[in-house]
Amino acid sequence: MRVDELVHAAHVRYAAADDGTVADYIPALAQADPDWFGLSLVGVDGGVHEAGDAGIRFTIQSISKAFVFALACEAIGHERVHERVGVNNTGLAFNSVIAVELNAGSPMNPMVNAGAIATTALLPTSDAEERWAVVRDGLSRFAGRPLDLDEEVYRSETETNHRNRAIAQLLHSYGRLAADADEAVDVYTRQCSLAVDAHDLAVMGATLADGGVNPVTGEQVVSAEVCRDTLSVLASCGLYERSGEWLFEIGLPAKSGVSGGIVAVAPGKGAVGAFSPRLDAAGNSVRGQRACAYLSRALGLNLF
Ligand code: DON
Repeated sequence: MRVDELVHAAHVRYAAADDGTVADYIPALAQADPDWFGLSLVGVDGGVHEAGDAGIRFTIQSISKAFVFALACEAIGHERVHERVGVNNTGLAFNSVIAVELNAGSPMNPMVNAGAIATTALLPTSDAEERWAVVRDGLSRFAGRPLDLDEEVYRSETETNHRNRAIAQLLHSYGRLAADADEAVDVYTRQCSLAVDAHDLAVMGATLADGGVNPVTGEQVVSAEVCRDTLSVLASCGLYERSGEWLFEIGLPAKSGVSGGIVAVAPGKGAVGAFSPRLDAAGNSVRGQRACAYLSRALGLNLF
């Protein structure tokens, strides 16, 4: 089958899967239609193959962590980010407080909330507005278009993100936060509230697959070394406590987000962007995982 047909087949195959639930701990996310389902595959040659709701906008949420990590490595170097944040899986939920406590105040890895807040705080900027501008501009360059903030989701998360604020204060108490705790959480909340669609995710992932060159705009967004660093962390930590199972079944570095997005990257080849808001217990899209598994097998993308 041609790639177009395979993407379409993956969509047909899993469009009826109705297990999993839409996230509601951020109240605005609960408005998502559980039946939305979009798939986009973008190659390093810029080729695009899509099915379903690939143009519906949703907030990027935790998928932003991968790209902010790349920006931080590019800005201050891999060693410093490694030393300050860490790269080991916690084996615990993405918003775990106990993981920080069990590890002497280490944020553990940049893909959980603690590590992502610490990573955002590491960006070398002079104030919160500049930090936000660097994040928004950087993620927009990965996507190849200017990304906008979803104000409603940002407001909703800001009103309810007590746990993230507690995590940031805890990191601060251990001397592990390079910026003001409230400021770091606010920029982190904004980065999670950037609106993307499945196509944007695929272009962002294809940029990591392509040694940092955006295959649509041709811009070198980050270095090839930074892509390698980012993809290795996605392989071990991208799907939280399910990362081992994901790598075992699908064999690709990937990142999920609680609004239902997944980006899965095939180095040197391209990336899949998937969107479906029904989540499993770890916060990963059910249909998105199945569609990525199908495409990884059908296209022979598994790295191992
Ligand atoms: O900080 C949070 O809880 C959200 N802004 C992001 C969490 C998330 O996407 C977890 N992913 N599955």
